[in-house]
Amino acid sequence: MTDTESTSKAVALQYNRFPYPHYPIFAKPLWQEGYWGSSLFIGRLLYDLRKVVPPALSSDHASHRILNAGCGDTQPYVLRKLEPSHFHIDCVDLSRTALRRAKLRTFPYVYKMSFHEQDLLAYTKNRAEEYDHIEAYGVLHHLEDPDQTLKQMVRCLKPNGTLRIMVYNSPARRWIHELQDLFQSLNFSPYRKADRAAARSLLAGLRGHCPSFSPRLAQISPLMLSNDARFVDTFFHAHELRRSIVDWFASFHRCGLEPFALFDRYAELDDLPNPLWELPQAQVLEERARANQFRNNLELLLYKRGHSHPHAITFPKLWHWRLKPAPRFWTQYEETAKLSFFDRLRIWHQLIGSLCGHQGSNGEKLPTRVEDRLARIGALCPR
Ligand SMILES: C[S@@+](CC[C@H](N)C(=O)[O-])C[C@H]1O[C@@H](n2cnc3c(N)ncnc32)[C@H](O)[C@@H]1O
Repeated sequence: MTDTESTSKAVALQYNRFPYPHYPIFAKPLWQEGYWGSSLFIGRLLYDLRKVVPPALSSDHASHRILNAGCGDTQPYVLRKLEPSHFHIDCVDLSRTALRRAKLRTFPYVYKMSFHEQDLLAYTKNRAEEYDHIEAYGVLHHLEDPDQTLKQMVRCLKPNGTLRIMVYNSPARRWIHELQDLFQSLNFSPYRKADRAAARSLLAGLRGHCPSFSPRLAQISPLMLSNDARFVDTFFHAHELRRSIVDWFASFHRCGLEPFALFDRYAELDDLPNPLWELPQAQVLEERARANQFRNNLELLLYKRGHSHPHAITFPKLWHWRLKPAPRFWTQYEETAKLSFFDRLRIWHQLIGSLCGHQGSNGEKLPTRVEDRLARIGALCPR
């Protein structure tokens, strides 16, 4: 058995037993919270920032296709809701259990969706220029050979196709690595309930008595500690690559990708220009991560460098987005916490309008610091 096969087998075993993120099957995730991961948002941002017309917005492409790489059990539902109904979505995952749950969750909406139980390396092997956009959230760092898979994934993209990638911020996860190593040295197995319980009590003990761990452990949500899938994913993973931020960026560039935006979910980079509009250098992120000033995972938007023909743009309609209230997470920031329901709704409709190609005015002026925060979370467009 090759290294790739044995890693795949171990990872599949884990996600068959603990499909991720394992939200209750009848829970309906608030898909509008993920607007910034839709191919339309990413495509629009790319066009506004670089004047590149991505295939998802290009009138030149008759059929649109999205690849959800390592889809897990919930993302297919979110993507199906976010993407226009005529975009086909291919969901690929090693885990049969995750795919079964994903199919069940998307049951009434499975038009234009396909599910593939396969390793990404094998799935992408003989394909070329099929996809407008690839979503690879939280999967590359679990592959035996992420560079080879990434190279093949890039080949699967149409020219100027976009990707959203989330990979772990390894330098900021050193404390998690220490705990992973500790549990491994104690011979704990994620497949034994008693070992998971022992690991949880050990964490509770460390939280109470170990000053170097307690601030970190205090950040972990009780939900993460109580949800087996997320607990195992964090502390017992069958394969987690520990790779620096600089090395990830080098790998993206080698594969012909251009990272162009970073989502700063926890407002850790407020002293820098808006990272969604002006990507910080890898070295800067690396130094901050090592100094504990940047702990979020790397949530990046990228595109495949290609020939940029002056295609006309086709804008989607997105009627169903308009029926939803503004994303809840907008209010979690100090600057936006007091925005009224109606202001949020107005900004949400303005954002949808700009994704649909409307020029529209920005409406009422908000305080600069509120606008700045909204721009940093993609609620206001660069124009
Ligand atoms: C942490 S989960 C992320 C799931 C989903 N992307 C999300 O954000 O909710 C990683 C997923 O990638 C899948 N996966 C890991 N290695 C894979 C591989 N080599 N080929 C296909 N899927 C893989 C796992 O089965 C798992 O469902």
